[in-house]
Formats: sequence, structure tokens, C-alpha cells
Amino acid sequence: MTRERTDADRYGHFTPDGREYVITDPRPPRPWVNVIANPRAGLVVSHTGSGLSWIDNSQLAVVVRWQQDLADDRSGRFLYLLDRDSGALWSAAPAPCWPRYDRFACRHGLGYTTFDSHAHGVRAQWTLSVDPEEAVELWRLRLEVAESGGARRLAVVAFLEWNCGVAPAPRREFQKLFLETAWRPGQRAIVAGSHMWDAPSERWGHWNRDFPFWSALAAAQPVAAAEGDKAAFLGRGGAWSRPAALAGADAAWPGLFGRHHDPVAALLCAVDVAPGRPFEGGFVLATGEDPDSATELAGRFASPAAMDASRQAAVDGWRELLAGHRLETPEPRLDPLLNDWLRYQAISARLWGRAGYYQQSGAYGFRDQLQDSQVWLTVDPARCREQIALHAGHQFADGSVVHWWHPLTEQGHVTRMTDDLLWLAFVAAAWIRETGDLGILDDTAPYLDDARPRPLLDHVERAFRRSAERTSPRGLPYIGGGDWNDGLSAVGLGERGESVWLAEFLAGLCAEWSEIHRRRGDAARAEALEARRVALVAAVNEHAWDGAWYRRATRDDGSWIGSAGHEFGRIFLNAQTWAILHDVAPPERAARCLDAVEEHLVSDAGALLLAPAWERPDETVGYVTRYAPGLRENGGVYTHAAVWAVAAAAKLGRGALVGRLLSALNPAVKDPERYGAEPYVLPGNVDGPQSPHHGRGGWTWYTGSAAWLPRVVSEWVLGVRPTWRGLAFAPCLPPDWGRAAMVRPWRGATVRVEIVRQAGMGEGEVVVEADGALVRDGVVEEVEAGAEVAVTVRVG
Ligand code: GLC
Repeated sequence: MTRERTDADRYGHFTPDGREYVITDPRPPRPWVNVIANPRAGLVVSHTGSGLSWIDNSQLAVVVRWQQDLADDRSGRFLYLLDRDSGALWSAAPAPCWPRYDRFACRHGLGYTTFDSHAHGVRAQWTLSVDPEEAVELWRLRLEVAESGGARRLAVVAFLEWNCGVAPAPRREFQKLFLETAWRPGQRAIVAGSHMWDAPSERWGHWNRDFPFWSALAAAQPVAAAEGDKAAFLGRGGAWSRPAALAGADAAWPGLFGRHHDPVAALLCAVDVAPGRPFEGGFVLATGEDPDSATELAGRFASPAAMDASRQAAVDGWRELLAGHRLETPEPRLDPLLNDWLRYQAISARLWGRAGYYQQSGAYGFRDQLQDSQVWLTVDPARCREQIALHAGHQFADGSVVHWWHPLTEQGHVTRMTDDLLWLAFVAAAWIRETGDLGILDDTAPYLDDARPRPLLDHVERAFRRSAERTSPRGLPYIGGGDWNDGLSAVGLGERGESVWLAEFLAGLCAEWSEIHRRRGDAARAEALEARRVALVAAVNEHAWDGAWYRRATRDDGSWIGSAGHEFGRIFLNAQTWAILHDVAPPERAARCLDAVEEHLVSDAGALLLAPAWERPDETVGYVTRYAPGLRENGGVYTHAAVWAVAAAAKLGRGALVGRLLSALNPAVKDPERYGAEPYVLPGNVDGPQSPHHGRGGWTWYTGSAAWLPRVVSEWVLGVRPTWRGLAFAPCLPPDWGRAAMVRPWRGATVRVEIVRQAGMGEGEVVVEADGALVRDGVVEEVEAGAEVAVTVRVG
């Protein structure tokens, strides 16, 4: 792949295959991180080497203590390098010493991060990875000196600060009273745990439970000294860049372990290297249920060969997982995101880690991880099915659901949000459309307040019923404590305010489930849902059309939000895009509301969620109005919703707008000085025009758009779309795209699609051939399992 270097590459670049992002300047504008995880354990590591580690829940069960501070990014773990003769001290990653490297690269890849540096005549390669199955984090280290250099007596020092519980833990003076550490010289390991876990739960008393995990930091090579106390390591008045313990040959390592210290782990290993005799070794951080199992697990991985095998398995796992569905566009800076990075972001950071540098959550959002799980639809639908069952089990018998819940403690947040429960129906329908398998409807899950397992069909029915109960006399659903937009938190607390977006969302769901019931042979339910759809469409068009776009919501007092005469929040994106996506807008209104989006909301940073932003809090609307203007939901580009705008534009055949929106969203083409955030993953939001930092990326590795963008590009831009009739081909390419290609699985077959623009064809005209034969209506209805189907799509 050729990709010319531009200003966007000032701090780093993608490798030619797009699978690695190489940061070459150790001072990018902000922490540029990787979230490396398996389904249970993981870590976040920034280009400075800082970050956290967790097991099962990145908020409630955080092993390595990290303090969120994006301007001063030095906390968590460090790897020091020391010249035992000269006393020179530096770090294998920029934090905490900030050495002057002769050469530096931080390579973030799928499943690993490598710091590759040259300083003080030593090349150090430090690779962090997580085993694909076990709760084990690997710090593989290789040190070498140049042929021209002499032998060197070095030391490597692994350092981390124990958290062993809920994070953030700002009251360290309280928390540390419960921690316990021990040094196990025979296993070259420091173990740590805590006798108090302040995770809120009704199941045990206040501050009255052990943290249920123990962790071990073990060395793969002999250890010369170990320290367990922070003050002893740092020294009085010490600095992280030169802690007292590393100040010279006679530095004290009192080795303070037990229950009466400020627990850290520091392991010093003396290492000799010479030309042609590199050092191969490293450290392992493992977590288990007790000190013995943690130490045993760490020991199993504490060798260079075991670490390399584990990392290779992780890297191969990602490759294999993502290999089945890939696409090719004429945008070399888009393909690495769509094929690798965004799906990795959705799986590693959102579904597994539920963590990033901007939000360390650990919880499952009812609507969030369901949407994120769409990333599995093409490559491993069984995992999406598991996610659906998990969420079904977090519904109450009356159909309502918890807005989020914490794995481990099962603490859930009950709100008056009105859309959460319906995402279950949305994702389940997408799953059935993808796989054609109605069997999922028989999958069972209990209710939170009724332990008897009930089929998914029942869960979905109850969600529909519950939302029908919450409908205004004129047929629009109530907005309650918020719909998709969490920040519209006060619009309808009195259960009278209505949501236009929710009406549109629900109308489309009624269509989907009407079809599903028809296929199940339940004509009565199919008809009832179809009637509900018609009523919703009529209500939206009768009450919510503002003249040039759809309004967004009414307050409890009946006044509108999102109308032309308003000072703030005059037009909202979602009310337009979903009117199009869910066939609520008749054609003329669909075109007009998309024009309005283009006129009022499309900026060069993407489509804004609303405009103008609120400039002062409005307590009749909610906390969206309390963000500074242009930030997040308050008039920023909320990428989750901005991706839906791409789909809506494609659905209406507006190729130019599709192209504009796509490049506005693409972090890999941004000027890093203005944008600031990582070029290889999507942010949650980008500042809108009312922010002095218009175009600044925020909240990377966040939920929402990472799973949606690859899906929207596949299904709407390249137009390869699962429908109830079969796989449809209806691309809407940006005008400057001459071709595109994709391979994806479809019901047991492999479909290879080549899309070409053909001169002489009319605009919007599409001709589809499968294995050389013309396909009627552009829909391939039947495929044989195991078959390879070659599809050519010609567009005007
Ligand atoms: C956050 C929430 C998500 C919500 C969005 C818009 O991303 O996690 O559930 O839909 O904000 O408010």
C-alpha cells in the first residue's frame, strides 16, 4: 500500500500494512494510547509507558494504580534502565525519565505495544502484551549494544504501584491501610492483594470484603533487589526520574513488604550485555484468586519463549478474527481504520476492557455494548448472540432495563431512560437479518427480578410493551430521563415530554419485528406491529415537522426543543438521520431534512449533534446544556451520531456528502496540532465551532462509533447490505472513488465484491452480477454454504 507522508504524520505513521501505528516523536500533543485486552484482563498503555491494568472490571478491579492526568502523563508502570558503572539512569519508555533518545519508536499494534529506543549506547525493546486467555500481562524486554560498543553492566528495574481494588482511589492514605504485599524470592515475585474492597454492592456489608484477586509481578531473570514501599523507593524529596533507590551503587533497598507500607512493586535485575550477546528477558504481571495461583500463573509465563509464544498467539488471534471481512477503498488512510483499528477498538477497548484514558468505566452500558457487539456480526456472530443474552439478563420483568451495570458486583443503575430496552430488539433483529437464524429467539435469560429463564422473544416483547405504555396521547413516545442522548436528562422527567428521535427509532423496529413475526408465522403480531409503525410515522409527520427539518423533543410542559426559532439547540442531527434511516420521512421531507443537516450541522470536523450549542445551562433540558459550548453532546461532533449521518446520506444517494462526512471523521488525515488525539482510533467527540478548539479530538477509545463506522461503510457506502430478501448490493460511493472492493462471509459462503464506476451509466444506476449472471433487483437471495461467490457491481 503506498501512502505518502503528510503533515498528519508529524508524530508517527502507519506501517505499510496498516496494522501498526509507529509514534516516532516521543512528544505527540496528548497521550496516544493502546488498549490491550483479552475478555477478562487488560491494560492501557500510552506512548509514555504510563497506564493501568485490570481484571474483569476496569473500574472496580484495577490492579495497577494510575491517575488520570492527560497533561502530566506519568503514572502506573515504569521500566527503568540503569548503567551500573556510570550511574546513567533512563527509562525504556519516556515516563518517568524523559530521556533524550537517539532514536525512539512506540509501535502500537493489535494486541501489543513495543517501545523501541536507543539511548546511552543501548537499544531497548520493551513489548507489552496480554495473553489471549489468561489474566497475564507480559513485559518482554530485549537489550542490545552495538558491535562497536563494549560490554555493559546494566540493571533493569520494573516498577508499578499497586491499586488492588476500585479506581480511582484518591484516598490513598485510607486505601493503603488494607493492602498486603509479600516478596517470594524463590519465585522472583512480589504478590499483592487487599483486605478491603469498596465496590458498592448490596450483597456484602460496607467496607467488609477482601478484594477477590491477588496479583504477582514476577521476573524472568534473577532478581538482585526487591522493594515494596513507595517512600523507600522514591526517597525523601525523590523524583520519579531519579528515585533514591536508583541513585547509586550504595542505594538502600530495605525491602519493605507486609501490611504496613505504601505498596508498590520494584524488581531490580542485574543484566550484562555485550556485542552479539543481547539480554532476553522481562517481567510478568499475573492475577489469580490467591497469592499462590497468581504466582504460579506468573511463573508459567516468566521466560522469553513463553512470553513470545503468548504474544504471537494474541497477534495471530486478531489477524484471524478480522480476516474474514475486509474492504478496500481508494482512501489508503481509511482502510487501516476500517479493517483493523476500529474493530479492534470496539472489541478490545469497548467490549472487553471498557476502558480508555478518558473514561475508565468497567461497566456494561445497556445500549452501548449491545451496539458495540455489532462488530461481531460478520466475523463471529456467536459472540454477538452471547452479548444479546447477557443484556437480556439485565432486564426487569416489566420490560425496563438497567442503564448500566457492573460485572463482578452486579450493581445496576436504574433510570428513566426510554430507549435502552429497545436496543435489545434492534441488535437482535440485526443478528437475525445477518444470519437468517430465528433460533436466537429461543435463547433464554432470566429477568433481574424473576429468575426463571425466559426466551429472548419474550424479552423483546416486554420491551415493546413497556415502551408502548410510555406513549403520549398523541402517539409519540415519552422521553423520560433521556433517550439515546443521555444529556437530555430533564426534558421529560414528569413523563409528559416526548421524543421524536425515539418515535423514529421505534418505527423502524416495528418494521423489523413485524417481518420477524411474519417469518415465525405469527400474522397477528406482525400486523399489530405494522399498525404501530404506521401510527408512529403519522404522529411524527403530523406533529414534529418544523418546516425544513424534524424537531427533537417536547418538554413536560409541551414546548418544543429543536425548532427554527430557538436560540440554542435549533436543529438536532439524530431526528433527521433516523427519519431517513427508518423510513419515517416521506421522500420530499427526507431530502429537505438532509439539506438542513448539510446547511446547519456539517462542519469540516464532521456532522454536529446539534446547533447552536447552549451557551448557558437550561435546567428544563438537562445536563447537555451544562457542557461548555461545542463540547461533547452540546454542539460537538458526537462521532457515534456523525456516523449515522454517513448512512443517511448514502441512503439518499448523496455521494458527495458521504465523501465529505467520511473524510471529516477520519482521524488519520487530521492535522495533529489541531486535532491532538490518536490518528488510529475514533474519538467519542470532536469540538464543534463554538469551541475555541474547533476540530480538537476528545475521548478516544470511547464507545459508539468504532463498531458503527465499519458497518456503515460496508452496508451503506459500499452498499453490501443484509436485507430480509438476501444480500443487497446498492453502493453510494463518493464521486472521486472509482472502485472499491470487499470480502465478507454471508450465511456460510464467502462473498467477494468488486465495485466499479462505469462510464456511460446514469447517476444512481446499479448493475449487479454474481458469478457472471445478472442479479435481479441487486439482491443475491440464495447462496450455498461453503461457496465462493464473486459479485461485480457497476455503478454510474
Ligand atoms: C455516551 C453514552 C451513550 C449515549 C451517548 C449520547 O456515549 O455512553 O449511551 O448514547 O453518550 O448521549
